[in-house]
Formats: sequence, C-alpha cells, structure tokens
Amino acid sequence: MQGSANLNLMIKAARKAGRALVKDFREVENLQVSTKGPGDFVSKADREAERIIKEELMNGRPTYGWLGEETGATEGADPTRRWIVDPLDGTTNFLHGMPHWAVSIALEHKGEIVTGVVYDAAKDELFWAEKGAGAWMNDKRLRVSGRRNLHEAVFATGVPFGAKVTLPLMLQDLARLMPACAGVRRWGAASLDLAYVAAGRYDGYWERELSAWDIAAGLIIVKEAGGMVGGIFDGQSPLDTGALLVANDALYAPFRKIIQGA
Ligand code: IPD
Ligand code: CA
Ligand code: CA
Repeated sequence: MQGSANLNLMIKAARKAGRALVKDFREVENLQVSTKGPGDFVSKADREAERIIKEELMNGRPTYGWLGEETGATEGADPTRRWIVDPLDGTTNFLHGMPHWAVSIALEHKGEIVTGVVYDAAKDELFWAEKGAGAWMNDKRLRVSGRRNLHEAVFATGVPFGAKVTLPLMLQDLARLMPACAGVRRWGAASLDLAYVAAGRYDGYWERELSAWDIAAGLIIVKEAGGMVGGIFDGQSPLDTGALLVANDALYAPFRKIIQGA
C-alpha cells in the first residue's frame, strides 16, 4: 500500500525514535536491579525520543504546528495542520522492562485527524491509517473483529493510576461489564489498545482521562479498520474530553450501554 508523503515522513520518524527506544529498553533491563532504578534514565529516553520525532517532522514540514507530550504546543505558520505526538506511550511498561509500549504520531488537518502511526518497536508492529486508505499493520490490511456476542468479547481499558479522579467510575464499569463479557485487559498503552481493536485482537476499548497525544493516532486507525468511535456519552468528543469508547459495529451499542450504566 502506497501512502502519502506525510505518512512516509511519520513512519520514518516513528522508526527512528523506535530504534533509539529499543536500545534504551535493553538498558532498562540492566537498571532494574540497581537501587536507584531506571526512572531518570527512562525520562531521558522519553525526551530524547520526542526530540528525534520533532526534528524529523519539523524539518520535513516546518510550517505545521506541534503538540507533543514532553514539549507542549506550538502554533505553526500553517494553522490548519498540526502534529500530535506521544513519543513513548506505555511508559510504566517500559520502566518495568515489559515490551508493550509504542510511539504515537498523528496529523491533524482542520481539527480532524487524517493520518495516524502507532509503532510498537519492541515487536516491530507498525500500525497506520490514512483517511480513506484503510488501516494497516506492516503490509497487512486491518479489520475490526467480527464478534457479535458480548459474552465472547474481550475488552481493553485503562485503570486510572495515582490521583486520577475517575477510579470509582472505572470500578463500577468493571463490576457491570465483567460478568457480561469474556474478559477485560489492562495493558497500559492507550495507543496500542486502539491499534489492537483495529486489528481485531480486542473487540472494544474504553477509557477516561486520556490526552489527545494518547489517542489521536489510534482513533483514525480504528475508524479506518471499520470500527465505531465515540465519547462515552452523546456529544462528547474523545479528543476534546479524553474519554472514549470504541468497538466493532455489532458490539458498540450494547457495550456503550453497559459503560453508560444504563
Ligand atoms: C498512559 C498510557 C496508559 C493510560 C494512561 C496514559 P503514558 O500514557 O496510555 O495506557 O492508561 O492514562 O497516561 O504516560 O505511558 O504516555
Ligand atoms: Ca501516553
Ligand atoms: Ca508518554
């Protein structure tokens, strides 16, 4: 599948940052046993990955705006286009030596995400989508799952950590959903949760309190794989509110009803 020049630039940046992160990830395994732990090292790796991506993308498209988790927002000379970047999604996994983390890069045009790349460098799985061109993992076309029954479905979520205020809501969600489905997973990388729905591995995913950089790329990958995407309640935009629910079309309504507490 031939992608656009922007897509190729995004893939180049994601692979370059991914290579640097894989090297650092090997080092993390050694640091695990030291008393200081790998915390500072990982923050440095994270910032360095964003620097690599920013350099590639902004050299290639100097007029575009920027929103990155580590370096914040910068308006571009072209106010209609903006990169949205999480250089390392799944930091806790990375920090603990667990190979489930990704580089996430999206391109927004006039408020809409038009291209997304989520690169799981540890497994060399590159998920990408472009508006109208479908969703892909490496050179394989992606399609959401065909499961139609909730009791066969496996869902992903993120359990809020630290001082996040939505923990009680999440626990209520789990109490309602778990008896009705085949399982719930919490793997700790929102961008990959979305990519896995696109790949038909998960049947759906929901989470609250996310940021645009966690989900921008994954959202278009799910849409282009034929998935349904929305806020948890009507009229909520996932990118604006950070709360989202995605699933295949058969499961979307019943799954959403449960999460809404109806
Ligand atoms: C986190 C991951 C996680 C989600 C958190 C995010 P980070 O991103 O996507 O799955 O539950 O809310 O903050 O901090 O690893 O980039
Ligand atoms: Ca993230
Ligand atoms: Ca991050």
